[in-house]
Amino acid sequence: MLLEILKTIWILLPAYTPNNFAVIFGGGFPIDFGKNFVDGRRILGDGKTFRGFFSGLIGGVFVAHLQLFIERAAGFAIFSSLSYSQFLQLAFLLSFGSLLGDLTGSFLKRRIGLKRGERAPILDQLDFLVFSLLIASFSEAFWKVFSFENILIAFLITPVLHVVTNRIAYLLKLKDVPW
Ligand code: CTP
Ligand code: MG
Repeated sequence: MLLEILKTIWILLPAYTPNNFAVIFGGGFPIDFGKNFVDGRRILGDGKTFRGFFSGLIGGVFVAHLQLFIERAAGFAIFSSLSYSQFLQLAFLLSFGSLLGDLTGSFLKRRIGLKRGERAPILDQLDFLVFSLLIASFSEAFWKVFSFENILIAFLITPVLHVVTNRIAYLLKLKDVPW
């Protein structure tokens, strides 16, 4: 069981880490071009930037490569059991889906009237996971690495991990609010 939880965290790192890269390297020009939606509120808000999106994407794929390296050095094979092109596709889709989920979460937050940075329990914690798994599940490699058990564990542990890591980011002054 513990091993299965650790495996789940491991295979989800390319989905977990993009937002951390976005927090560190993000800022600048907003993806919604500063524009409002038909309801008069911002489409996404100033918290979603091009720099954040692309640094998140590159960051997530970079982390997956580090994992490939670590697996080979440590002698276990999860991502490294895939062909390189399948691995790359999976890493890209997990990261891309995660960032797309984060954008969708912000879009929904603006629609219900929450301002940038205001907390939305459940949505803040699961938006990226739902999209990451959904989008990555279209790749063949996904089902070679993820079992249904891993997906179930992912939904159970992610809210807990999210709260813990955001609190750490807040304490390190990487984020303005602890969520
Ligand atoms: N960030 C970014 N671009 C992204 C995602 C995040 O630049 N695509 C940066 C922003 O500086 C953002 C910070 O990371 O403020 C934290 O991300 P997040 O919590 O997702 O955004 P919030 O500011 O809380 O905005 P929202 O209410 O829309 O979630
Ligand atoms: Mg936030």
